Amino acid sequence: MSEKRPSRPMRPGPGGKTLKDIDKNVLFRLLRFLMEGYKKEIILVAICIVISSISAVIATVFLQRLIDECIIPGISTGYDSIRGKLFSIILTMACIYVLGVIATFTNTRTMARVTQGTLKRFRDAMFDKMETLPIRYFDTHAHGDIMSTYTNDTDAIRQMIGQSIPNVIQSTLSIVSVFTMMLVYSIWLTLAVLLVIFLMFRITGKLGGQSARFMVAQQQSLAKEEGFIEEMMEGQKVVKVFCHEEESRRDFDRLNEQLFSDGEQANKIGNILMPILNNIGNIMYVLLAILGGFLAVLHAPNLSLTGIGTVTIGIIISFLTMSRQLSQTVGQISMQISMIAMGLAGASRIFSLIDEKPEEDEGYVTLVNLVRKEDGSLHEVDHQTGLWGWRHLHHETGQIEYKELRGDVVMEHVDFGYVPEKEVLHDISLYAHPGQKIAFVGATGAGKTTITNLINRFYDIPEGKIRYDGINITKIKKPDLRRSLGVVLQEVNLFTGTVMDNIRYGKLDATDEECINAAKLANADDFIRRLPNGYNTMLTGNGASLSQGQRQLISIARAAVANPPVMILDEATSSIDTRTEALVQRGMDNLMRGRTVFVIAHRLSTVRNSDAIMVLDHGKIIERGTHDDLIAAKGMYYQLYTGAFELE
Ligand SMILES: Nc1ncnc2c1ncn2[C@@H]1O[C@H](COP(=O)(O)OP(=O)(O)OP(=O)(O)O)[C@@H](O)[C@H]1O
Ligand SMILES: [Mg+2]
Repeated sequence: MSEKRPSRPMRPGPGGKTLKDIDKNVLFRLLRFLMEGYKKEIILVAICIVISSISAVIATVFLQRLIDECIIPGISTGYDSIRGKLFSIILTMACIYVLGVIATFTNTRTMARVTQGTLKRFRDAMFDKMETLPIRYFDTHAHGDIMSTYTNDTDAIRQMIGQSIPNVIQSTLSIVSVFTMMLVYSIWLTLAVLLVIFLMFRITGKLGGQSARFMVAQQQSLAKEEGFIEEMMEGQKVVKVFCHEEESRRDFDRLNEQLFSDGEQANKIGNILMPILNNIGNIMYVLLAILGGFLAVLHAPNLSLTGIGTVTIGIIISFLTMSRQLSQTVGQISMQISMIAMGLAGASRIFSLIDEKPEEDEGYVTLVNLVRKEDGSLHEVDHQTGLWGWRHLHHETGQIEYKELRGDVVMEHVDFGYVPEKEVLHDISLYAHPGQKIAFVGATGAGKTTITNLINRFYDIPEGKIRYDGINITKIKKPDLRRSLGVVLQEVNLFTGTVMDNIRYGKLDATDEECINAAKLANADDFIRRLPNGYNTMLTGNGASLSQGQRQLISIARAAVANPPVMILDEATSSIDTRTEALVQRGMDNLMRGRTVFVIAHRLSTVRNSDAIMVLDHGKIIERGTHDDLIAAKGMYYQLYTGAFELE
């Protein structure tokens, strides 16, 4: 494979661009984002930065005047002659310094608000977007990676907008104003300083750039390591069962080694930069003292040369102070380069999450409460009536039609694949009338869960139609569609909260009594009452303190509490003993009378009493009928069924 690798680790941004290409756009966008939220604050900060940089320079001017106009004349003429001037200069200097301090103080306080507020806005924007993303996004993105956007990347942005950007702006302003002052004082001394500063910037650019690249690499390695740790925590039991502790330690060491070496490189380069700059600064100091002294001597009255300008002791001292200030400023800028690179890399990752396309929903048919008048006509009301219906606005005629929610599901020639290369379902057609129990059976991977994923529109179909009460489901608003379906997913997820909270998740306004009734129906009431705190037992870590079957019972209760017209049970009872399962079945059959149920089960005893059984094989329905029909047909179902008994 002829892979072209960049010689230096550069992190590709969205669309395969390198960090350099995206920097400018990301920076502008970040600044826009900042301005949108905190325009006034940022203007205030800008003013404060200007004040504090300028005040530092003006103070130096007064230092020069203090020396040249007070101290030196004062030595020969005595204190009394300069007292008035001395006081006025010192007072002015004090005022300037106080102003500078106030500006810095205001700036720091305001910036804390802007920074933290911006991070909050970023996190809000990311989470809001995440909630709108289609399931497909999570299929294709590592979860650890998404997590690190909230932690590492926002932290990098905090560094950048809270410290680096203001610092660089302030430093630039200082440099400009210091240079202006220097030029006013002495062009020759300024040229000398310019030469040294140029050298400093060259070194900073070279070393700082390298350090920045390693900082970005370090951030990437950190995200990888975090992802690994997360996976190992989730999979602790599997690791132990296979005695892979040693292997996972080795894998971790490898990742950790990488993080170490990136971090070391980044800091090594970063750390030698400061001493180098400091030493150059010191050399400049000495050079200026010598050059300044020389110029001052040249200027001495008996040696007066024209065209060189006046260099006094005060000017030399101010120059020395300013050059110190200048070299410190350059040092500060150099420290910020890598922070800015990291911040930009983080911002570009955050923006790419925020820019993800949300799940589309062009549905306009909504779920509403209805009442039936005596003449049989349906009318919409805004309180709960127990009679749900679809509000269908016909665009062509502008007419509103109400239709009772019955739970009639029809699929017509549905084809589907998660990825374009691999079709998972082929030409699926089926109908389920209200009150019917439809079962899907078939081998693992046959496509049973996929069918249910299509009914609740986790994924959209390219070919064919699915109708719900005669309405194409693409016309129904997704939240309304999903609210009308009670789904027990194959994988149980319980949230941190009490058992009661977890059941109530199915219908947020359910009373305790409704939740308990749902639990009774799911046959979960018994075991819940035996928990240490009954319904108030706290669950954490996805209900780790419960058995697999108990977790399934809670998830059934959660779906049941919503009392939906259509229920989809995907292997909902796979971990439950046969006796409890029979009880759950009976409860569900009571609940679901007059409603549609889709059940997916490997245990065929569960589906025996279904109105129709669909046998799936490699994404096709190869048989359909009642249990008796299918047994009589002696096909796949017969084999599955009798095979199962033979095995037993
Ligand atoms: N998110 C996904 N992305 C890509 N392919 C998927 C995804 N989910 C399932 N598949 C593929 O789709 C096919 C059908 O999967 P599905 O989950 O519908 O099987 P199933 O019949 O429910 O199996 P089981 O009885 O094991 O639950 C499988 O070949 C699987 O590899
Ligand atoms: Mg499945």
